[in-house]
Amino acid sequence: MRHLISTRDLSAERAIALLDTAIDMVDVRSRDVKKLPTLRGKTVANVFFEDSTRTRLSFEAAALALSADVTTFTTQGSSVSKGESLKDTLQTLEAMGADFIVLRHSHSGVASTVANNKWVDARIINAGDGTHEHPTQALLDAFTMRSRLRGVDARGMDLAGISVVIVGDILHSRVARSNAFLLTTLGATVTLAAPQTLLPREIDGWGVTVVSTLDDALESQPDVVMTLRVQKERMSSGFFPSESEFSTLWGMNDSRLRRLPSTSIVMHPGPMNRGLEISGSVADSPQSTVADQVSNGVAMRMSVLYTLMGDSR
Ligand code: NCD
Repeated sequence: MRHLISTRDLSAERAIALLDTAIDMVDVRSRDVKKLPTLRGKTVANVFFEDSTRTRLSFEAAALALSADVTTFTTQGSSVSKGESLKDTLQTLEAMGADFIVLRHSHSGVASTVANNKWVDARIINAGDGTHEHPTQALLDAFTMRSRLRGVDARGMDLAGISVVIVGDILHSRVARSNAFLLTTLGATVTLAAPQTLLPREIDGWGVTVVSTLDDALESQPDVVMTLRVQKERMSSGFFPSESEFSTLWGMNDSRLRRLPSTSIVMHPGPMNRGLEISGSVADSPQSTVADQVSNGVAMRMSVLYTLMGDSR
């Protein structure tokens, strides 16, 4: 595997190997010397055409932990304002020696365009392309589920028998898409719960079930409820009547959490709209994995960088 563009490209074996390597990376991160020399002399370029806190810092931390050099590009203050194209921007970064390009962009499909047309030689990691995919987020989510529900050392295990409800703004969510593909590949049962207006049209082939209310979805006592940010910046008009109506029908709150087994977990990729898709008290509850997801994200991205490096040696 040279690039990581979509979770659709991952077989169960490949995904499990990536999750297993992340266990080793968690171990590295718990040592006194939290570094491996694997990417010494290599450069990871973080190229972010869209805002990010977690993903960018997480890739930075992962690259540094593997002893890579890191350059970070954000559009603000760059020549993109002078009209420079994506292709020229990436080729400029490669000319400065980028071996990996971690790319976030608002256009769906951009990462595969760059990789398929061989605009650069560098390995491409999709860090979120529009509403399309965000494969490393799905991997870190799968890792978090596996370690919380199957134990820290769940080496070799898939997610068979785990039921996951994904709720909210699925239409605009690359996190939901990448998760749906990866989780079903790993044998989990996935149910989507969203208002009609926030459900993508093309979910045939996703291998998921759709229910029309969150309360119906919770009836089945899922192991995981994955909440999603309502992506107001991608909404041109009203997708739901009001925020208070949305949080009443689709928000994960205390009374809904009480209906779940105490072993079930509530996830959110961040950034959260507290009080909208998730209440503050649920986000801060022991059943919330929000902080775990962030911390596992670094180990998971170390695993991805490490694996791509090894595969293309
Ligand atoms: C997500 C993203 O950017 O797609 N955030 C993240 O990477 N942690 C989800 C979001 O922005 O809502």
